[in-house]
Amino acid sequence: RINHTGWCRRIEEKEMNSKAYQWFQTVDTDRSGFINLKELKQALVNSNWSSFNDETCLMMINMFDKTRSGQMDLFGFSALWDFMQRWRAMFQQYDRDRSGCISGMELQQALAQMGYNLSPQFSETLVQRFTVRGARPGIQLDRFIHVCTQLQSMTQVFRERDTSMTGNIRLSYEDFLSGAVTRLM
Ligand SMILES: *[C@@H]1O[C@H](CO)[C@@H](O)[C@H](O)[C@H]1NC(C)=O
Repeated sequence: RINHTGWCRRIEEKEMNSKAYQWFQTVDTDRSGFINLKELKQALVNSNWSSFNDETCLMMINMFDKTRSGQMDLFGFSALWDFMQRWRAMFQQYDRDRSGCISGMELQQALAQMGYNLSPQFSETLVQRFTVRGARPGIQLDRFIHVCTQLQSMTQVFRERDTSMTGNIRLSYEDFLSGAVTRLM
């Protein structure tokens, strides 16, 4: 007799990126079967080998923790793996001078290619806001992921209200705050 459950499980495992599975085993240092903030932070590094900042790690756990337990299981982690691969590739593509940091001009080009219609001044403001204190201006991979994800999320809030696609919306004070509170991570 065919065991349907077993069969499905095998297909799922096959489809899941085997690299993500290997990485999960390495990152899950306490062998709990879940990845928590501390383990994730230890696993992710920027171009200069500095570990990822807490904000970005926390944001990613919140995005891929489907059980709301504050940690990720293998499937959440596998989705995070794909997410990371995409952003890392983008970062490398837009870091044209291979400095390990995205400059204001590089960010401007990146955002334009992602379809955002924003001024160079806005990119400069973002770079100033997300530069590591005391370092030369530029956005490292962790903060790049943070910035872009927030931007996507806030743009979604705007688009949902900009139904006639004029690029302008009217918002009450509380609507504005609700948009920020529910979307910012
Ligand atoms: C990595 O770069 C950041 C920002 O430029 C800097 O603050 C940090 O000290 C660097 N870390 C290492 C390990 O070089």
